[in-house]
Amino acid sequence: MGRSRTFLSCRECGQQLAQWSGRCPGCGSWGSIEEGPGLSGSPTLETLVHEDADEERVSTGFAGIDRVLGGGLVPATVALLAGEPGIGKSTLLLQMIANLSSAGSPCLLVSGEESRRQVSERARRLGIDGSTLSFVAGRELPAVLEAARRAGPALIAVDSIQSLRDPGAGQAPGGPSQVRACTDALVGLAKAEGISVVLTGHVTKDGDVAGPRTLEHAVDVVLAFDGDPRSGLRMLSGGKNRFGAEGEIAWFEMEGSGLREIDPSDLLLPSDREPGAAVALPLVGRRALAVEIQALVVPGDGAVRRHASGLDLRRFQLIAAVLDRAGVVPLGRAELYGAVAGGARLDDPACDLAVAAALASAAAGAAAPRATAFVGEIGLTGIVRSTGAAMSARLSAARAAGIRTVLGPEGPDTVEGVRWVGIRHVAQALAWLDGRPEPATRGMPGLRATSSERPEAVEDGSDRASDLRF
Ligand code: TYD
Ligand code: MG
Repeated sequence: MGRSRTFLSCRECGQQLAQWSGRCPGCGSWGSIEEGPGLSGSPTLETLVHEDADEERVSTGFAGIDRVLGGGLVPATVALLAGEPGIGKSTLLLQMIANLSSAGSPCLLVSGEESRRQVSERARRLGIDGSTLSFVAGRELPAVLEAARRAGPALIAVDSIQSLRDPGAGQAPGGPSQVRACTDALVGLAKAEGISVVLTGHVTKDGDVAGPRTLEHAVDVVLAFDGDPRSGLRMLSGGKNRFGAEGEIAWFEMEGSGLREIDPSDLLLPSDREPGAAVALPLVGRRALAVEIQALVVPGDGAVRRHASGLDLRRFQLIAAVLDRAGVVPLGRAELYGAVAGGARLDDPACDLAVAAALASAAAGAAAPRATAFVGEIGLTGIVRSTGAAMSARLSAARAAGIRTVLGPEGPDTVEGVRWVGIRHVAQALAWLDGRPEPATRGMPGLRATSSERPEAVEDGSDRASDLRF
């Protein structure tokens, strides 16, 4: 406390905010948030809560991890970094403590998984100066507690909780009562000495932390580290968090020299348009992203085969069936593949329209227009429903990724440089792509595009919308 602080408030309605935002959550005005005293000149309750919490946060050196944590690590608390073996927990932990120590917070690394030599080899590979990090071989709990009390670090990193052993508890290391006893001892140490503790924990394929589930109850924060081991993409998301933000995600790419924080749109949105690709604007956690959906249509008349990676297979099949039944894209018994560029997993139904556009483009062998994205959930009749949520965030993500036109079920004509084309049926969207003035009306007489805009208006002449034929 004691730090003076300016307040953010809306010029239009006077609403006070704890964080800057492009749009006022009170009255919906854009660009109206400015610094200065609020209406009453005194902080709101919410502002005070944030201010108190901010005071205590310690940055991990990764903006995304700080965001997931709700502002950084909180002293005297315990966080669990959970993930499958090989996903990159030890790497992330080492990079994090290297950042912390070079910012002046001494760290103690406790490793029961790897020897001092293995850890220092990893440090060298990551370009980390290992001489600034204290290390203790972490197998015996009493020795670890003793080393921690002696060194008095700001943070203790334990890799992993399953490799620690409390001689007072029964069973072998990794067993439920061992894991519980060691966690309790570290929670006690954190509270008594005001030290932050970060534990790594292996999870099984089903996402359970090996050992007792009670481990999750014993710690203050659970961070899930996830990704497709075949690709370099990694996601860190906040599960349980006693101190703030839920639903935030930090994104990383695993490279030869460790984990690099990335803006996922850079990775997920390849710059070249190929037949079979269409851009979706899903919500992932709280963030909207521009992500490329890919489809492949292999003609055939044998058994019907549909494959999806990163997409829900049942939704993929449903969209293919709707396109086929409505006669919009005759897919017949063709073998169909659907995927998400970059190896991400998407479960937002607002991706449906992009999946349909990718399938249509693959079937036609013609690329979708450049700089165009698709938003909307497709029902069994082919009607495209608005998913409602976070449309302005989706449009901002679109704009940031260089998207100029968005097709979706409803919306304004233009939003901050992104042109909106309103459609109500999937056939209308595909007809728009096809450059036809009227939508395909088979089975749906009387449908009219709700937008007066036509494909000729696509700015980029090199890859015209009318190239797409079905
Ligand atoms: P690791 O951090 O050991 O995973 P975990 O502790 O979760 O089991 O990292 C696992 C993989 O990451 C390992 O197979 C090698 C790879 N890796 C890189 O690709 N780049 C690197 O810089 C490092 C250190 C590891
Ligand atoms: Mg490890």
